[in-house]
Amino acid sequence: MVTTETIIAMKKKQEKIVCLTAYDYPCARILDESGIDIILVGDSAANVFAGEKYTLPITMEEMLYHAKVVSRAVENGLVIADMPFLSYQTSIRDAIYNAGRFLKVGACGVKLEGGAPIVETIKRLVDLGIPVMGHIGLTPQSIHKFGGYKLQGKTEEEGARLIKDAELLESAGCFSLVLEKIPSRLAKKITEAISIPTIGIGAGSDCDGQILVLHDILGLFENFTPKFVKKYAHIGDEIRRAVHQFKDEVKKGIYPDEKHSF
Ligand code: KIV
Repeated sequence: MVTTETIIAMKKKQEKIVCLTAYDYPCARILDESGIDIILVGDSAANVFAGEKYTLPITMEEMLYHAKVVSRAVENGLVIADMPFLSYQTSIRDAIYNAGRFLKVGACGVKLEGGAPIVETIKRLVDLGIPVMGHIGLTPQSIHKFGGYKLQGKTEEEGARLIKDAELLESAGCFSLVLEKIPSRLAKKITEAISIPTIGIGAGSDCDGQILVLHDILGLFENFTPKFVKKYAHIGDEIRRAVHQFKDEVKKGIYPDEKHSF
């Protein structure tokens, strides 16, 4: 079984960490059977599952449902749940309560977006035995501050701030750190500066691991494809083909045949 200790040890052994998102039971089961190390119940569910433009609208109740069904499916991988917008920013008390709710439904830890401003919150969660994954760079819950899904850490000053944030998150007790949409050179520097694993998404190949959104790599979410996404399948096309065939067969009276009747 993958634990936070396993993940930290993988960096020491220079073994790449493979992570994907999941929001439902059947996909989580396939990911787990395929040996994915970390299965993230991402708040990207707001986009690729629920069709929202941003991650901001998803609620604790909705995330808890996703976390519950994913946790039920996973026997080996480490299930981490994304804390949605306003579930941890309001107070340390809210953060503890909401993170605890994720653990109650089966998640093994939580992910929080942000650097210096949430370090105290993370320290408290970790002290209470709740594993935390950090997330810096392009943090989608701050989309309106950034003015779009833009590359972060482009200037010397921004880069230095992100390195500082990474060090703070490591000392706060995070067991790993997501680096989203930052230059590869900066991600390499951060990866070398801290002893916890970095998990990149649009952050180049020098991170200790990689994460992508499942619906993106499967070709199941077709509204928008970021540059860093590689499509490993075209499941949307396959669903279309199957649905058209079913429709055709029903219209023509081919389905149900004797084999599928009583
Ligand atoms: O919500 C999400 O899926 C994420 C990952 C892509 C890092 O935060």
